[in-house]
Amino acid sequence: TDPAKIKLGNGSDVKGTRVRVFGRVHRERRQKEVMFITLRDGYGFMQVIFTGPLAKTYDAITLTRETSMEILGELREVPAGAHAPNSRELHADYFKIHPGCKAAGGDDAITNRVSKDTEHATLLDLRHLTLRGENSSKVLIVRDAVEHAFHVVYKDLRMRKVSPPALVQTQVEGGATLFKFNYYNEDAYLTQSSQLYLETCLPSMGDVYCIEKSFRAEKSLTRRHLAEYSHVEGELDFITFEDLLEHLELLMCRVLEETMSDPLIKQYVMELNPEFQMPERPFMRMKYTEAIDWLVEHEIPNEDGEPHKFGDDIAEAAERKMTDAINRPIFLTHFPAEIKAFYMPKDKDDPRVTESVDCLMPGVGEIVGGSMRIHDYDELMEAFKRVDIDPTPYYWYTDQRKYGSSPHGGYGLGLERFLAWLCKQHTVRDCCLYPRYFGRCKP
Ligand code: 4AD
Ligand code: MG
Repeated sequence: TDPAKIKLGNGSDVKGTRVRVFGRVHRERRQKEVMFITLRDGYGFMQVIFTGPLAKTYDAITLTRETSMEILGELREVPAGAHAPNSRELHADYFKIHPGCKAAGGDDAITNRVSKDTEHATLLDLRHLTLRGENSSKVLIVRDAVEHAFHVVYKDLRMRKVSPPALVQTQVEGGATLFKFNYYNEDAYLTQSSQLYLETCLPSMGDVYCIEKSFRAEKSLTRRHLAEYSHVEGELDFITFEDLLEHLELLMCRVLEETMSDPLIKQYVMELNPEFQMPERPFMRMKYTEAIDWLVEHEIPNEDGEPHKFGDDIAEAAERKMTDAINRPIFLTHFPAEIKAFYMPKDKDDPRVTESVDCLMPGVGEIVGGSMRIHDYDELMEAFKRVDIDPTPYYWYTDQRKYGSSPHGGYGLGLERFLAWLCKQHTVRDCCLYPRYFGRCKP
């Protein structure tokens, strides 16, 4: 009978037994009579040893990195002091390379196409190959776990998942970043946020969430802006602004606990980000006006090179400097209406500002944007007027304010930004499969 087919990662160490494995050659190293291969299969790595005649076969001698193979052999514990993934190695007695599955060698070898010196743009063109790197694959595996954790935690919080459309005829976050296209000879856009649709679900489904793509025609190259990103959005009915903040910090902490409860994922996070520490609740609260004071005090200028003043946007660089200096999650709240989206209600105690929040994380800055929503019909109409948006195409949104409106609020979290923070990646581009941003739409 055939030996059991096993994956390479942890937990598959049935030492002393004969097994069958499949994978690609991650590394190979030869000594006189012995050949060592590190095999990779997406679940982990395994050291494989070829000795005797097996190491001298034509296929073994000409073996190239990334070639995929099937190997049979006996799993043994490695001698004390020797290094091998999961402290075990496979002593091969048979191997097979499927016809057509050999990786290119010579000038076309993967090591010639992707190396430490390859230029950044070329590396991005070769994303389909650089994905195989240890760091890239760890980040993507952590991403899968984080996304799953959101679903688990949302179910615990009794929130229901919906799937709003990506093709829309209304803007949410300002006309400047809309991707417009021809939709059967009508103007339409790729959605910037599912928020408005989530709001319409509250009366029928209760609290809802979605994890969908959002699109922004960002016209600058930054570490944290993509043209297409994964947007985790939640909308909660009958809440106060304080409820919203408490929900957000609970959500993030629970998602992190859930993610880190898998030992392999925890190992990957700690390898990528050795200084990672679970954030503590409650997060620090800081009002926009306090942030302005902080920036003035620390002589961090605004975008015009002047000291910050009330009404200024806090730009990416200033925001990150402040967040890095404070070095813990911050809820930055109560932004002036003028620098925020139309749907945000005014604060009852200070009508200059809104019931709005950004969650800032060290190393990245804003990872969440949220707010209460104007629930009064007339107030919403005034808001449309202020930003000069025609409310007609929003009839389905404004109708909500005619038929049983409610105090409600919600937020959007950028999944790639959350991962950049968790996995300590310099840019969000490394936190998605095939990044899309200004000037790049391939591979
Ligand atoms: O702050 P934003 O624009 O808020 C909204 O879209 C709300 N309508 C969400 C809601 O309340 N349901 O975006 C929310 C988050 C940001 O905090 C950021 O993490 C991420 O989405 N984000 C981007 N991520 C990558 N690339 C971009 N171009 C992004 N723009 C926003
Ligand atoms: Mg924002």
